[in-house]
Amino acid sequence: MDLYEHQAKQLFGEHDVPTAQRQLASTPDQAERSAARIGGRVVVKAQVKTGGRGKAGGVKVADGPEEARAAAEQILGMDIKGHTVHHVLVEEAADIAEEYYFSILLDRANRTFLSICSKEGGMEIEEVAATRPQAIVRTPIDPLRGLDRATAREICHRAELPFDTHPRLAAVMTRLWRVACEEDATLVEVNPLVRTEDGRVVALDGKVTLDGNAAFRHPERAAFHDDAGADERESRARAKGLNYVKLDGEVGIIGNGAGLVMSTLDVVAYAGEAHGGVKPANFLDIGGGASAEVMANGLEIILGDPAVKSVFVNVFGGITACDAVANGIVQALELLEERGDDVSKPLVVRLDGNNAELGRRILDERAHPAVRRVDTMDGAAAQAAELAAA
Ligand SMILES: Nc1ncnc2c1ncn2[C@@H]1O[C@H](COP(=O)(O)OP(=O)(O)O)[C@@H](O)[C@H]1O
Ligand SMILES: [Mg+2]
Repeated sequence: MDLYEHQAKQLFGEHDVPTAQRQLASTPDQAERSAARIGGRVVVKAQVKTGGRGKAGGVKVADGPEEARAAAEQILGMDIKGHTVHHVLVEEAADIAEEYYFSILLDRANRTFLSICSKEGGMEIEEVAATRPQAIVRTPIDPLRGLDRATAREICHRAELPFDTHPRLAAVMTRLWRVACEEDATLVEVNPLVRTEDGRVVALDGKVTLDGNAAFRHPERAAFHDDAGADERESRARAKGLNYVKLDGEVGIIGNGAGLVMSTLDVVAYAGEAHGGVKPANFLDIGGGASAEVMANGLEIILGDPAVKSVFVNVFGGITACDAVANGIVQALELLEERGDDVSKPLVVRLDGNNAELGRRILDERAHPAVRRVDTMDGAAAQAAELAAA
């Protein structure tokens, strides 16, 4: 689960990682008062769970309360990569001498943690990695030993960070390790980690992803999880025992089984390239038993996502055969129509596997205007992408 910057900084504060003084605001009035309380120059920052807020105009410097109010007026309600801004962080402006990059992430493939450090912070790390790979220092961190001072100093050396700041930087790095370890995070990223003109080291941005599987160990963080449920559809799906994940694109995806759903995402993204970069909007794994009820719940959630322009239902019949799935789809659509839900978004259905012929016949006989039957996965993905782009 991703945290907002203000939540990440709360964790930083609890683990003695230096941050700037700040207050959360949800109205221009509050932003103005926060700026007055903080005093001097402040930075007003959009709180959305996506990067590149600066570039999108979601981070503005304000010279006092009135300007902070004006900045908040501009930023609140703004749409940044599909995320609406409901809160801004009003933060004391730092006197930045240099911006660095530092992160710790779970490296699943190597069964360890990895730290990434660069003296070229501020900009997106992917950009640095692409243009100046030599400016990036990667260091594995043994999960049992953790990141100690000596290793942190070595990272500072290799990243060519200014020598006189090494002790402070190393201290901050080891504390960020404690954030990762003690909070069960899979990502702790600080970009930028800055050196100020007066030689302090401050985390000016914070991105933390907590491992949802470890949530039971952190009842004290329950409030973060409630907030994450802000995607109301995700919580509704969870309540119904469905695996639903919201993504950024336009094609809704329903499949049975994690493997099939994953490859469906790839096929749709690939097909979408021919249609101006259409991408999956979400995905929902209905698992083994695709009953009418499960299908109705799934379709309700997917169709209710305003970003969805078309839906791709990709089912490989196994123990639950295709005729049962086809009946499930037909009954689900009837159920939703009876309830007055809008079921006009095009539904591309591909059925294969056990009893595929029978399943296809059931769909053809019902001939629902929203349903288009395509019998190959690639063909169906292409059609779903094309419909989403139309
Ligand atoms: N408190 C602050 N004081 C001064 N400058 C800041 C402050 N917070 C952010 N900035 C500047 O704004 C840039 C973008 O802010 P950041 O929090 O990294 O958002 P994002 O990474 O989403 O663009 C930073 O690289 C930094 O230069
Ligand atoms: Mg940043």
